[in-house]
Amino acid sequence: MQLGIVIMAAGKGTRLKSKRAKVLHEIGGRPLLAHVIAVAAQVVPPQDILVIVGHQAESVLSTVRDTGVRFVLQEEQRGTGHALQSAERDTREYEQLIVLSGDVPLLRPETIAGLRDFHLEQQASMTILTALPADPFGYGRVLRRRADQPEVSAIVEQNALTPAQESVREINSGIYAFNRASLYGHIGQLRADNAHRELYLTDMARILVDAGVRVVALQAADPAEVLGANTIAEMMDLDRELRMRTARQLMAEGVTIFRPETVVIDLDVKVGPDTVIEPFAQLLGTTRVGSDCRICSFSVLENSTLADRVVIRQSCVIEDSEIDKGASLGPFAHLRPGCHIGENAHIGNFVEGKKLRMGKGSKANHLSYLGDTQMGEGVNIGAGAITCNYDGHAKYPTLIGDGVFVGSDSTLVAPVVIGEGSYIAAGSCITEDVPADALALGRARQTMKPHWAKNRRAQVQARKLESAE
Ligand code: UD1
Ligand code: CA
Repeated sequence: MQLGIVIMAAGKGTRLKSKRAKVLHEIGGRPLLAHVIAVAAQVVPPQDILVIVGHQAESVLSTVRDTGVRFVLQEEQRGTGHALQSAERDTREYEQLIVLSGDVPLLRPETIAGLRDFHLEQQASMTILTALPADPFGYGRVLRRRADQPEVSAIVEQNALTPAQESVREINSGIYAFNRASLYGHIGQLRADNAHRELYLTDMARILVDAGVRVVALQAADPAEVLGANTIAEMMDLDRELRMRTARQLMAEGVTIFRPETVVIDLDVKVGPDTVIEPFAQLLGTTRVGSDCRICSFSVLENSTLADRVVIRQSCVIEDSEIDKGASLGPFAHLRPGCHIGENAHIGNFVEGKKLRMGKGSKANHLSYLGDTQMGEGVNIGAGAITCNYDGHAKYPTLIGDGVFVGSDSTLVAPVVIGEGSYIAAGSCITEDVPADALALGRARQTMKPHWAKNRRAQVQARKLESAE
């Protein structure tokens, strides 16, 4: 049996009130459509997945092109039935079709497989995946011929429900299996005689029943799986559900997550066992965290890799960077893209790095900016020391050798090389290379004026007395 999967993703998503096409909105850090494609690809190979695109087709295409699926254009979006009409030619090689909606992203592959099996077993022309959610409002309702039988007589959209039908709680998930010949044999009978003047795929239920073929329903075990995302609020509900799934999975793998409902973990993130994640942490993109790490509250990690035993204290922002084992950062540290922090290195509060390479055991514990800087091992950067990497036109590097001590509040004006084992006196402005093992002083000599302060106080006091007279 040849099975193809068709994903309807051409709609605009008017109810989102957004410039961006609905299927490109993200939950769990991935576009809705990418979720649906990923699930479908676990049931059939990507070349047997056909995505119907229309609204913002170019952006949709470029977002998911690398999945290897096929596309068909629905030039005008005249409803879900019209979407399937556009796919007629490109589905010719299939005997059976599974139809998915690009805005129903939490579906599991086992559920699709279950729908396929039930559809074949029932020898149905159309099988509708249904659910009994707590609140059916807004969904099409599935009318069964008899409550305890799979046969369906019709699907009725929310705004066409009669008062009696409003009590029907079984909803249409927008996911179907079709015998392709039955679908395309009768799809021409769809009429836009409804509130939206669209061709509704849901009307195929009644049309096929009238044609005397079998239309049945299969109820999904977990209604959460088939929830759709028509509004931002609904989408955020799905986002929460998806992230809870991810958090539960990580906890099952030995990660401790305090208050998991508050953390934001993207789907592709990996975390090793015995790592602790505190409330309100965010782990985004392709972030990888090793074992025995601690990610404290309000820290945001994006596309970054942490080895084992790394501690990220409160409120750090870490982007596209790599941190070796045993290092610690924060609170309030910021690593911009391209940083590599060595083993057991320390980055303290209010330290910002950009393309910063820090060797094993080096420290920058307080109030520093280190940009385009490469430092060896065992370096100490004093409080408030900074690199001046930018002259208003171009960026220049700072090289700091092993074991260098940079005194507090020094400014290292790049390009500059600080030789290994050297000392930079506190408060220095360093504009020339420093040889290894030297002491560099780049500041004005201190001058002393004995009794100056005392004399001044006396003068002030005298003036006060004068004016009081
Ligand atoms: C649809 C069903 C409804 C069901 C619900 C489940 C119809 C008429 N109604 O309603 O019974 O309860 O899904 O979530 O089908 N699309 C196209 N081309 C179009 C129009 C839509 O590709 O011309 C795509 C959309 O991008 C979307 C999917 O089809 O991914 C569903 O469309 P949508 O407008 O969201 O349908 P609902 O009103 O949710
Ligand atoms: Ca929808």
